[in-house]
Amino acid sequence: MGVKKNIPLHKYNRLINSGCVVLVTSKFRGRINVLTIAWHTPVSKKPPLLAICVAMGHLSCQMIRRSKEFAINVPSSELINAVQFCGTFSGREMDKFERVKITPEPAEQIGAPLIKECIAHIECKVKRIYFEGDHAVFIAQVVNASVDQEFFDGEILLIDNFLSHTLHHLGLNKYIIAKQIRSA
Ligand SMILES: Cc1cc2nc3c(=O)[nH]c(=O)nc-3n(C[C@H](O)[C@H](O)[C@H](O)COP(=O)(O)O)c2cc1C
Repeated sequence: MGVKKNIPLHKYNRLINSGCVVLVTSKFRGRINVLTIAWHTPVSKKPPLLAICVAMGHLSCQMIRRSKEFAINVPSSELINAVQFCGTFSGREMDKFERVKITPEPAEQIGAPLIKECIAHIECKVKRIYFEGDHAVFIAQVVNASVDQEFFDGEILLIDNFLSHTLHHLGLNKYIIAKQIRSA
């Protein structure tokens, strides 16, 4: 991915592209981890808040509970195998960054790393945690949002370039690849 630039925080939701799968990165006591999630949603624009739901058994859940930080990274369809892998295996068993050959790079406002190969990033600080059923719902404040300028026109994510097609999970190992923009 090319040089990323910050965008206004109230536009962070435009980077998620209505439910594309994302890679969530965390860091705790020097250890970094990444998992795939489909369950995320914008919660508020002012202040910019979002929510992610993470199963309590996942290593990422423990790491985010303790560090109170995470980053959302938006992968393009080129990363489909990494997305599936990071959503299948736990960081307890391996370093997923090394296994799928994705590159951690420093974030601006949080300790958790960003993933260089992703299109966009949303840096988050946890404000509140709800425990519901088998998942923890992390309500987090967006503290930075950045996107590859090639794929964002100032208003919307440009998914019509093959390098920025987003992935939407159908279940199992099946994804929809979003690649066409139409105006209403
Ligand atoms: C496409 C996809 C979407 C997923 N969405 C979620 C999700 O929204 N929340 C969640 O807790 N796990 C989700 N998972 C499962 C976790 O990514 C998976 O269990 C992962 O191995 C946990 O890793 P960790 O133990 O290193 O944190 C998803 C998996 C895939 C493949």
